Amino acid sequence: MPTICLIPGDGIGPEVTAAARRVIEAAGVSVNWIELPAGAAAAERFGSPLPAQTLEAIARHRIALKGPTATPIGGGHASVNVQLRKHFDLYAAVRPVRSLRGLVTRYDGVDLVVIRENTEGLYSGIEAEIVPGVMQSLKIASRPACERIARFAFDYARARGRRKVSVFHKANIMKLTDGLFLDCARRMRAAVAPEVEYEELIVDNGFMQLVRDPGRFDVLLMENLYGDLVSDLCAGLVGGLGVVPGANIGRDCAIFEAVHGSAPDIAGKGIANPLAVIMSSVMMLNHIGLTAPAERIKAAYNPAIEEGNPAERTRDIGGTATTAQFVEALIKRIA
Ligand code: NAI
Repeated sequence: MPTICLIPGDGIGPEVTAAARRVIEAAGVSVNWIELPAGAAAAERFGSPLPAQTLEAIARHRIALKGPTATPIGGGHASVNVQLRKHFDLYAAVRPVRSLRGLVTRYDGVDLVVIRENTEGLYSGIEAEIVPGVMQSLKIASRPACERIARFAFDYARARGRRKVSVFHKANIMKLTDGLFLDCARRMRAAVAPEVEYEELIVDNGFMQLVRDPGRFDVLLMENLYGDLVSDLCAGLVGGLGVVPGANIGRDCAIFEAVHGSAPDIAGKGIANPLAVIMSSVMMLNHIGLTAPAERIKAAYNPAIEEGNPAERTRDIGGTATTAQFVEALIKRIA
């Protein structure tokens, strides 16, 4: 029986992670769940948004399914996500973005994977007021971190038969940091996957090309902040944040979570789409070798979406189902 840490998180987090837990169990996986606090609610209850017990349990069990955690804007505690990624050195964020058959969006046939460096860049949040009224934010890029994310991306592309890796950068302006990122990508491609097509796009152009013709992209590789931004943009190409899963992978641990946040505007209303976290659970089951139940879950939600019955979709993707109704219908299909 696998032991999996479960972080319900804030806002819609408890609703969508409870849904994923039920779906995993319905697929025949008995899990020893270890429920752990993190986020804004944990900060109030335990005096820390990331209590020591949470860090200890993840270090021991190495696999976690995480709901979104809220981060205060412009002050307050640092992001739990950033802390977790740094603490466990979860250096690769992997976010597959695919069109779902039957879900009408502006584009068909989108099949991308965003691979985001998860530990450095401007996203490190290393900031200071250097003199009164002047703020500074440091962008960090180190050769080992750039090399390992590039290796990860090209290994991933090879292992999955992907045809192309596109790097988004701003090395025309950030010549040293993004320049290093590019240098590592070029070298790693030559060393690891010379047969994989490779291109470099200045990030602003990359975003424009994505909304114009997402089908021309395959694997996207970029530093932390660009990867954060592009993930939500890509979600918008395939139906929104309710349908894009993610994984944060390190050498020793992996934490699986949807791209979306705590959605305070719909929290507690019972209408959140749990599909993104269910898809993240599928990634997690595959990661720990439980491929058969992972397939069972996919074989339930794909036709459910494809058949287009509004009672089997949540409202964000054009249906009428509540979170609970969606999960009940999905579990019936798995059974
Ligand atoms: P958000 O992703 O929470 O919400 C953006 C919009 O998408 C909202 O209208 C929301 O209702 C909708 N949405 C998101 N997930 C949905 C779902 N599963 N079903 C239906 N609709 C969904 O982004 P926002 O508003 O920028 O951030 C809210 C909070 O979440 C902030 O505190 C932020 O720091 C945190 N956050 C946490 C993340 C994480 O823990 N991985 C990732 C992104 C944001």
